[in-house]
Amino acid sequence: MISVSLISLGCAKNLIDSEIMVGHLLAAGMQVIPEAAKADVVIVNTCSFIDSAKEESIQTILEANEQRGLRKRRRDQKLIVAGCMSQRFAKELPGEMPEVDAFIGLDQVTKIVPLIEKLFDHERARGEAPVTEINRRSTFIPDFDTPRFRLTPRHFAYVKIAEGCNHPCTFCIIPQIRGRHRSRTIESVVREARQLVAEGVKELNLISQDTTYFGMDRWSEHAGPRAKLDSARGDTLALLLRELNAIEGDFWIRLLYTHPAHWSDELIRTIAECPKIARYVDMPLQHISDHMLGKMQRETSSKHIRDLVRAIRAGIPGITLRTTFIVGFPGETEADFAELLAFIRQTRFERLGVFRYSQEEGTRAAKSAEQLPDKLKEQRFHAAMALQQSIARELGTNEVGRTLRVLVEAPGIARAMGDAPDIDGRVFVARALPVSEFADVTINGVRDYDLLALPRGEHPARSVAPKPAR
Ligand code: F3S
Repeated sequence: MISVSLISLGCAKNLIDSEIMVGHLLAAGMQVIPEAAKADVVIVNTCSFIDSAKEESIQTILEANEQRGLRKRRRDQKLIVAGCMSQRFAKELPGEMPEVDAFIGLDQVTKIVPLIEKLFDHERARGEAPVTEINRRSTFIPDFDTPRFRLTPRHFAYVKIAEGCNHPCTFCIIPQIRGRHRSRTIESVVREARQLVAEGVKELNLISQDTTYFGMDRWSEHAGPRAKLDSARGDTLALLLRELNAIEGDFWIRLLYTHPAHWSDELIRTIAECPKIARYVDMPLQHISDHMLGKMQRETSSKHIRDLVRAIRAGIPGITLRTTFIVGFPGETEADFAELLAFIRQTRFERLGVFRYSQEEGTRAAKSAEQLPDKLKEQRFHAAMALQQSIARELGTNEVGRTLRVLVEAPGIARAMGDAPDIDGRVFVARALPVSEFADVTINGVRDYDLLALPRGEHPARSVAPKPAR
C-alpha cells in the first residue's frame, strides 16, 4: 500500500485543497501518515502570497528533499509540489527544482491519485517522468460531494463557498493564481453544511477570496446582464446565510474575508436577524486614505468605508470587527499614515492585523517608482501595532465580569464568538471543560490578546488563613 504524507502551508483555502487531496488518497486505498520520513510520497502544498510565504514554501521543499537523501531506505521517496507557488511558477519551477518529481496546479488536486500511480509506473518502466499540464488560470471549484477528509479539529470546519477573485487590487497576486471568481450554488453549500453539522461540527467558517461577492458571478445566468441591478434575481450571500441559519442544530456560522465594496443593508439585516451567524465580521480594509485606496485600486472610498463601519456597528449590536491594513504601500505619505492611525484610534477595531507592504513580482504596485524604504515600513508597522495593542488591552479589560459563550478547543482552551480559529486570541479557562462543546464562562482577567475565565458560577479559590495552633 502506498503511504503519503502531506505538509499544508498557507491559508484556509489551501487547507481545503489539502483536505481534497487527502480525501482522494484515502478513497483510492492509499495510507496517509503524519511522518514524512516513513512515507513513500511527500506532498508539499505551497503558498505564494508574499516573499516570506514563498521562502517558507521553498525551505519546506528543500528540507523534504534533504531528508530523503539522508535516509538510505527513503531515497526512492517521491516528492510532489502542489498549491499556489506551483500554480504561479508553473513554467519556472521544474527547471529550478529538478529534485521535485512532479508539480501540480490548483485544478489538479482531484487528480493526485493517478499522478502518484504514474510516478511509480514510470519508475517500474524506467520511462520519462510524467508531465503535468498546469492551466494558466485556475477554474476548479469543489462541490458538496467532492471527496474530502477534514484536517481541522472535530468541532470546526472551513467551507469554501467560492474560489478566485475579480478585484483589481494592485498589490495582490492571488487573482492571477486562483483565477476568476466562481461561486458554488446555495444548494451545494447547504448540502455540505448539513453534512458537517450532522458530523458534530459546531462552527462553519465560510471562506473564499471575497465572500461578499458570493453568487454575483452567476447572476447573469439567471436573468441576463441587468440582473446585477436586482439582487433578488440571483444567489446572494444574504440568501445563503439565511438558508444556513435554518439548518437544525446548535452551531455558529462565521463569515471570513468580506470586501467593503459588496456589503449591503440586506446583509447587515440578515446577520442581525440570524442567531447562528457569529457577531463577527472579517473585513480587510487595507487603508483608509483616499490617496492610498485609489493607488491600491480598492474600489471603495474613505467615506464609503467610514459609513459602512458605522452601519455595521449600528445594525449588528455586539459585533466584533476584524480588519487588516497594509503600511508602507508605494507612495504612502506621512499624512496618509497619520490618517490611518487616527482611523484606528477612532474606530477601535476589536481585532486588527497589520502587514508591511511586500513588493510582489507580477503585480502593478511592484512597478511603482514610489517604493518606500524597509526601515520606514518597519517603523509604521510598529506604530500601528503598538496603538492596536493598547486598544485591545482596553477592550479586553472591558470584558472582565461578562459571561461569554465559548467553544472549547482543548482542555483549558476555548474561543468566543469574537475569535476566529488560528487568527484571533483565545479564552483560557481555569478548568477542563468538555472539548468540542459549547460552554458558558465568566471572564476574570486579560493576558495580551487573550482572556482568562472561569466556568460560569464558579469563583476563584479563596486562600484560607491557617487556624492558629492551640
Ligand atoms: Fe492562500 Fe497563500 Fe494561496 S494565502 S490563496 S495559499 S497564495
